[in-house]
Amino acid sequence: MSPAAIILAAGLGTRMRSAQPKVLHPLAGQPMIQHLLSACEAVFGRIVVVVGPDMPALEDAVAPREVVVQRERLGTGHAALQAAPSLGGHQGDVAVLYGDNPLISAATLQALVAARQSAGLVLLAMRPADPGRYGRVVLDKKSEVARIVEWADATAEERAIGLCNAGVICAPAQDLFCWLGAIGNNNAKGEYYLTDVIQEARAGGKRVVAVEAPEAELRGINSRAELAQAEAELQRGLRAAAMAGGATMLSPETVHFCHDTKLGADVLLEPNIFFGPGVTVEDGVTIRAFSHLEGCVVKQGAVIGPYARLRPGTIIEPHAHVGNFVELKATTLGAGAKANHLSYLGDAMIGAGANIGAGTITCNYDGVAKHRTEIGEGAFIGSDTALVAPVRVGARALVAAGSVITDDVPDDALAIARGRQAVKPGRGFKGKGKR
Ligand code: UD1
Ligand code: MG
Repeated sequence: MSPAAIILAAGLGTRMRSAQPKVLHPLAGQPMIQHLLSACEAVFGRIVVVVGPDMPALEDAVAPREVVVQRERLGTGHAALQAAPSLGGHQGDVAVLYGDNPLISAATLQALVAARQSAGLVLLAMRPADPGRYGRVVLDKKSEVARIVEWADATAEERAIGLCNAGVICAPAQDLFCWLGAIGNNNAKGEYYLTDVIQEARAGGKRVVAVEAPEAELRGINSRAELAQAEAELQRGLRAAAMAGGATMLSPETVHFCHDTKLGADVLLEPNIFFGPGVTVEDGVTIRAFSHLEGCVVKQGAVIGPYARLRPGTIIEPHAHVGNFVELKATTLGAGAKANHLSYLGDAMIGAGANIGAGTITCNYDGVAKHRTEIGEGAFIGSDTALVAPVRVGARALVAAGSVITDDVPDDALAIARGRQAVKPGRGFKGKGKR
């Protein structure tokens, strides 16, 4: 039978100093628990998440996976035991994972599950550069795991051990729940420690072995500083993948990706670019410095920025240009069209080859509802034009600079909607002041 997983996420995460559950804090644009769920989904047939009694947002985030509630937070061992009614009868192995250890790869989880064939209990361990407050893994003479000692309970000698508990274990379901029922809470924190199942396993004559994996995958996140370290780790990987996929990055360390950013080949990324969720960038696109993109598609050969903002629902068709201080929201900019300077284009459909002059604004919101603006192919919108939606400017139409367009403009027409200039000879400035 395929193994099952229990993910512990009921902790308050007090070291984060946050009103939001720790495991919902985002990494590369998605809650940390989603990273873990993705890896788990590749390995485990069933997943049960242990949450606290007051965490509706977390229950929503992990839906539709099964959730059990730990009513009192009495420790990691007690938390894992809450899954007994769900998984106690599981014929096969069960792994216990911590929601605050989100970077584990599916390959490492496979190695954990595979190692279980030759041991009664397997755990993941690492040798961090700074072992800090991790639980220490004490090995016996056969290099099997004798026990884990929590930092708070460890002697100076034990704290000097470099091998640390990553917080993932795997054992047959029946054994695991039997051991969990037997552990006590006689320790520095008065908690039921999951790690104490090791002694129970050994007392029952089982071998306990540790599978080592890199710290980069196994680091736990308990504080904002550790969250930032994990983010840095993920970003390094995402940048490396982008470059391996054929993107040129002039200053990789200044570009921030989302977990789902998709980049084509021959993409050029200038320094200081932020990718939010849901961005696809096709081949041959250039994104210039200081641009911010989320929920958008940038098609082949388009040029974005510098200082551009593409918001959700934006589609930039091939070879279109978006220049500095231009914001687009739920807007399609047609093939080869240009919006090069200082504009807001929201809820708009802009035809191929159109030219949007500097300072053009789609007035899409009347205080109650959003309205659409349509601009036809090859239209030319003069600078400083306000397009009061809903409104349509026809194909090849010309809108004079400074216009406030409130009525539709037919194809091929010229629209001028601005005050006329009056020139009065001799009526120049006659006030005080030096010449
Ligand atoms: C734990 C391990 C430690 C290991 C480290 C790795 C124990 C006792 N210690 O310490 O050996 O080196 O992780 O990161 O297991 N949780 C609950 N209910 C509770 C308590 C905790 O669901 O009552 C959950 C938390 O939400 C968290 C996870 O269990 O996701 C781990 O708890 P945490 O308090 O972060 O344990 P650490 O001190 O990091
Ligand atoms: Mg932790």
